[in-house]
Amino acid sequence: MYLRVSLTDRCNLRCVYCLPEHAQFASTRATSGELRRLMALVWAAAKVRKIRLTGGEPTLCDDLPEFVAHARSLVDVVGLTTNGVLLEPMLPQLKVAGLSRLNISLDALDAESFRRFARRDGLDRVVSSIRAARRYGFAPLKINAVAMPDTDYAALVRFAAWEGVHVRFIELMAIGEAKAFQARAHVAADEMRRRIFDAGISLSERTDRDEATARVWSIDNHDVGECSVGFITTVSQPFCATCDRLRLSSQGRLFTCLMDNSGHDLLTPLRAGDEEQVKALVVAAVAGKRPPATFVRHENMASIGG
Ligand code: 5AD
Ligand code: SF4
Repeated sequence: MYLRVSLTDRCNLRCVYCLPEHAQFASTRATSGELRRLMALVWAAAKVRKIRLTGGEPTLCDDLPEFVAHARSLVDVVGLTTNGVLLEPMLPQLKVAGLSRLNISLDALDAESFRRFARRDGLDRVVSSIRAARRYGFAPLKINAVAMPDTDYAALVRFAAWEGVHVRFIELMAIGEAKAFQARAHVAADEMRRRIFDAGISLSERTDRDEATARVWSIDNHDVGECSVGFITTVSQPFCATCDRLRLSSQGRLFTCLMDNSGHDLLTPLRAGDEEQVKALVVAAVAGKRPPATFVRHENMASIGG
């Protein structure tokens, strides 16, 4: 199993497809110690082989390096998904803690479009973090862009190839703020590839891909440079049948699907000192993991981690 842990539901950005301007964050959360204990129990009960730390925005947690080190004590591959705004100064500590994979969200390459998507400034700091992460040797280093109608797909591909990183385009899901406009704003991967082609970049699908959730392409034009271009087709081509993801929220709830709208409370039995009960709940949740009946999530992505 692949476990994604949301360390906090708070975020320093307000991406239009994720959070409202006046977002209400949870008033209670598991303590860092409780969350680390829950990670270990889920790992033991569900045979977790990979862990990714997410948010909200995980760099808002001062003890992020401790979480990375703890995750590395459980599994060999630990990833982090971040918006990159506050990342750069934390990179040395994250490297020492054993972080292996880094995904940095980036939806636009000019300050005005960045602000339109994120409702905050920060483009320069994100780009600076991407470059610093490369210098520190994080590999594979990926940028994630949520697919919107006005996304400049080709520009993001050129940027990734130029910077020597990989890019993943994520189809817009009806989650949180995006529920209101997903149907009309959704851009399918075929359309993204058409737009990239129309901008002069030719892509070939790679057959050696090893990612469960993304179909990966490479760039044919030598002048553009090299990088992998992936499309996460949650909407146009769902991959539920092969999904092995579990998600643990900062409230101590376990979700077996992004579209699972209730989850399983692990924090109450943990606080009652009943770790066997926590493990039994995890085993039962994994056994009951099913593709969702509908692709809608009422809470925002920040509450569960992408
Ligand atoms: N649809 C698709 N992706 C989303 N993300 C946040 N909200 C949505 C949505 N409604 C993405 C973020 C980030 C990852 C954690 O999830 O942009 O890349
Ligand atoms: Fe924050 Fe990520 Fe949501 Fe944007 S998508 S508001 S960066 S949690």
